[in-house]
Amino acid sequence: MILGCFEIDNIYHIECVEGMKKFPEDCIDLVVTSPPYDDLRIYNGYIFNYETIAIELFRVMKSGGVVVWVVGDKVKNGNRSLTSFKQALFFQKIGFNVHDIMIYQKKNTPFMRSNAYTNCYEFMFVFSKGSPKTFNPLKTKTARNGIERLVSNKRSDGVNRKVLGELKPEKTLTNIWDYAVGLGGSTNDKYAFEHPAIFPEKLAHDHIISWSNENDIVFDPMSGSGTTCKMAKLNNRRYLGMEISKEYTELSKKRLEVFSNQLF
Ligand SMILES: C[S@@+](CC[C@H](N)C(=O)[O-])C[C@H]1O[C@@H](n2cnc3c(N)ncnc32)[C@H](O)[C@@H]1O
Repeated sequence: MILGCFEIDNIYHIECVEGMKKFPEDCIDLVVTSPPYDDLRIYNGYIFNYETIAIELFRVMKSGGVVVWVVGDKVKNGNRSLTSFKQALFFQKIGFNVHDIMIYQKKNTPFMRSNAYTNCYEFMFVFSKGSPKTFNPLKTKTARNGIERLVSNKRSDGVNRKVLGELKPEKTLTNIWDYAVGLGGSTNDKYAFEHPAIFPEKLAHDHIISWSNENDIVFDPMSGSGTTCKMAKLNNRRYLGMEISKEYTELSKKRLEVFSNQLF
């Protein structure tokens, strides 16, 4: 399958705006991605610009498609950058619906600041082009796991009537998701950590299940070590990654190759 001039189920070494310009309109079902945080880093001579990325994403998303944008703020001189919010406001300004602001809570985080509580979260903005066309809610067991219980029902005449109540065995998750990070948490692929900023495989997995169906196209415009692509493949979605660094593109291709060989 070809998308623009890209063979699907592949990761490309290309700057993502340049790459997306080669896509037709309305062709992507889901994006799960994470931009570089705050520092205006220069990647192979290119300065990260979230505005052009957001505009191009809006063009290529299908109606009802979802963009999950995972981002944290840097603290400089005791002041939080609020880059995350600036980006979210821009996505909204150009037409995305801010469907949800979810929290990615890290189970294990080092203590960093002497005069503030330890920061343990990042944002997972869920932007949609119109209302999301797919929602497969993840569930968790209820406290008593559906066991019947006796409920006291006091009526206005003061008479107590015992009625049988039944708990539902499961309920939809809240929008705060927590994950262990680091080796054995984010992934067991040791060499993935040659990339400095990977997000957990489970995080990508959970969003892919929630906002897409089998054979949908999942795209990561800043694919880093290839976490989203790996989880898309594992869950029988079509995937496409773009990465500006040659080194990380090669790392992610190797990761996908090793993993694919394990599947068969
Ligand atoms: C936070 S990392 C993504 C990590 C990824 N989610 C993972 O789990 O490995 C951001 C990545 O975006 C890449 N990047 C930055 N600007 C880019 C651009 N304009 N086009 C493509 N990739 C870009 C960087 O090289 C970096 O690998």
